[in-house]
Amino acid sequence: MDPNKPILVTGALGKTGSRVISALANRNIKVRAFIRRKDAANQAKALGATEVACGDFSDDKSLQFAIEGCSRIIHICPPMDPRETEISKRITDHCLTSKTERMILYSVLHPLLQDVPHHNNKLAAERHLVNSGQNFTILQPSRYMQHLIPIWNKIIETGVHSMPFSIETKFSLVDLEDLAEAAATIAIDNGHDGATYELAGPEKLSQIDMARILSDLTGKNIQARAKTMKEFKAWAEINEIPAARIETMVAMNRHYDVHGLVGNPNVLSWILGRTPRTFEEFVKREILN
Ligand SMILES: NC(=O)c1ccc[n+]([C@@H]2O[C@H](COP(=O)([O-])OP(=O)(O)OC[C@H]3O[C@@H](n4cnc5c(N)ncnc54)[C@H](OP(=O)(O)O)[C@@H]3O)[C@@H](O)[C@H]2O)c1
Repeated sequence: MDPNKPILVTGALGKTGSRVISALANRNIKVRAFIRRKDAANQAKALGATEVACGDFSDDKSLQFAIEGCSRIIHICPPMDPRETEISKRITDHCLTSKTERMILYSVLHPLLQDVPHHNNKLAAERHLVNSGQNFTILQPSRYMQHLIPIWNKIIETGVHSMPFSIETKFSLVDLEDLAEAAATIAIDNGHDGATYELAGPEKLSQIDMARILSDLTGKNIQARAKTMKEFKAWAEINEIPAARIETMVAMNRHYDVHGLVGNPNVLSWILGRTPRTFEEFVKREILN
C-alpha cells in the first residue's frame, strides 16, 4: 500500500465509520472521510481523518472525486438503506475506473438470509463485487454489543432488558471496538485479497443471558422480556423512523425471534491476535466506566 495515498472511509461519521477512522488514525494512516454534511468536516478531522470529501451516495461525481487517488476504500453503507445494492455497485465500478488497489465492503453476518431485506441487499452487493474483477475483502460482522447503549437508561429505570425478539434465541454479539480494530488491520495489511470474513463475538447470548450478566455487574435485579412487535412499531413511529425501514426492522426482528444470529469467533480472533471481547468486558468499558 502506498502510504502517501489515503484510505477512503464512507459512512464516516456514523457509529461504525467514526470508530474505523479512529482505529486507522491511531496507526498513523492517512484517512479521507466521505461525509455529506459540509459543516461536519471538523468532526471528521477530530476523529483523525486527514482529508474530507463532501458528497452524497446518490451523487456519482462526488463519489468518483472521493475515490480518486485513494489506495483502498472501506465502504460502510447507511443501515437498511433500500438503495444499498445500487450504491455499492456504483462504488465498485468507480473503484475499477480509479484502479483502487482494494475495496473493503462492510456487509453483515449471513447475508444469505432470504427473509431479511437488508441482508438480501448486501448479498447482491457482495455478488456484484466478487464478479466485478475489482480486488476486494468482504467483512461480515455480527450484531453489535453497542445496541445496549440506547436502552441502557430504560434498563436501569425499569429493571427490564427488552428487545423485540424472543428472550431465548442466541446471538454472537460482537464489540464494535473490536470490529473497528479488525477493519483497520484488514485495510492496512496485505494478504486479505479476495477474502470474505465472518466477524462474530466469542459468546452465544440470549436476552436472558444478557440480563443475568447485567444483574451480576450492577447488583440490580434485571429481567429479560420480549418487546412485542406492536410495542416496537409504536416506538418506531414515535421516533419518526421511515415506514420502509420499520418494515425491514420488523422482518429482521421476526428472524431474530426464531433463529437469533449465531456465527463463529475464530476469524476475528485470528485478525485481532486475541480473543474478541466478551459482553461483560464491553459493558464494563463502555457503559459502567
Ligand atoms: N448495527 C449492527 O449490529 C450491524 C451489524 C452488522 C453490520 N452493520 C452494518 O453497519 C453499517 C453501518 O451502520 P451504522 O449503524 O454505523 O450507521 P450509522 O450510524 O447510521 O451511520 C451512517 C452514516 O452514513 C451517512 N449517510 C447516510 N446517508 C448518506 C448519503 N446519502 N450520502 C452520504 N452519507 C450518508 C450518515 O451521515 P450523517 O452523519 O450525515 O447522518 C452516517 O454518518 C450498515 O451497513 C449496517 O448494516 C451493522
